[in-house]
Amino acid sequence: MTTPVAVITGATRGIGFEVACRLGAEGYQLFITGTRPEGLFEAVEKMEKLGLNAAGHPLDQGDAESIDEFATWLRAMTRGVDVFINNAGVWLEQHNSLSPSVLEADADAVTDTLQVNLLGPWLLIRTLHDLVRDNGRIVNVSSGMGSLTNMGTGFFGYRASKASINVLSKLLAPELAHRGVMVNAVDPGWVRTDMGGADADRSVDEGANSIMWAATLEPGGPSGGFYLDGKPADW
Ligand SMILES: NC(=O)c1ccc[n+]([C@@H]2O[C@H](COP(=O)([O-])OP(=O)(O)OC[C@H]3O[C@@H](n4cnc5c(N)ncnc54)[C@H](OP(=O)(O)O)[C@@H]3O)[C@@H](O)[C@H]2O)c1
Repeated sequence: MTTPVAVITGATRGIGFEVACRLGAEGYQLFITGTRPEGLFEAVEKMEKLGLNAAGHPLDQGDAESIDEFATWLRAMTRGVDVFINNAGVWLEQHNSLSPSVLEADADAVTDTLQVNLLGPWLLIRTLHDLVRDNGRIVNVSSGMGSLTNMGTGFFGYRASKASINVLSKLLAPELAHRGVMVNAVDPGWVRTDMGGADADRSVDEGANSIMWAATLEPGGPSGGFYLDGKPADW
């Protein structure tokens, strides 16, 4: 039997690190990314100490050249991917909470957020979709902050990026359905990470559960949906 392969972007810390370790413990060969080579090296080292099979490559999703370099590396490392998790993301507007108006949003922060959280995952999948094996899973890590039904105020760039990754998931699913590839957007909930902060109501473990559900779907499972804890979430 061939060793299953998982790609997890942004797995140097937080939810991505946890999901990678969980998949590694299930026997997956791991290919992970982070922006900082030293953080990446440390994460791979930690995974190896846990007895996991992991390799990493730098990736800045705000940089098309970096995306191409990562794609070239990945193709050299593996002939197929069973699970591709677009987990990496930024919340550049976290300090804008006192100025929530969409009219006052910072144009650079909005642009950079859309670049990393939406265009990065799209370019990655556009470049690498053929590497995802038949019956594979693509998990796009979204957020409740991207739900149009529950749209609050402020954080325009982040909310738009996550609403848009839901759009990406919904549009991509039927295009890959002929190969049995399942594409879903997943909300991990509000999680205690560097991004979520200490007040978040979920542990990293709980956030990772939500993603693991979509990452380990059986062939013929749901595709084109938005989920939290394995249950449909409001778009
Ligand atoms: N935490 C929450 O409450 C929460 C809630 C809903 C959704 N989410 C989503 O869950 C995902 C993971 O969040 P998290 O809380 O685990 O975040 P985190 O702890 O801040 O980790 C972010 C990860 O993304 C990587 N990254 C940062 N900038 C990047 C870039 N420009 N290009 C590529 N990778 C980049 C980081 O790498 P470096 O270590 O090199 O910086 C790190 O590995 C994100 O998509 C986030 O939007 C989080």
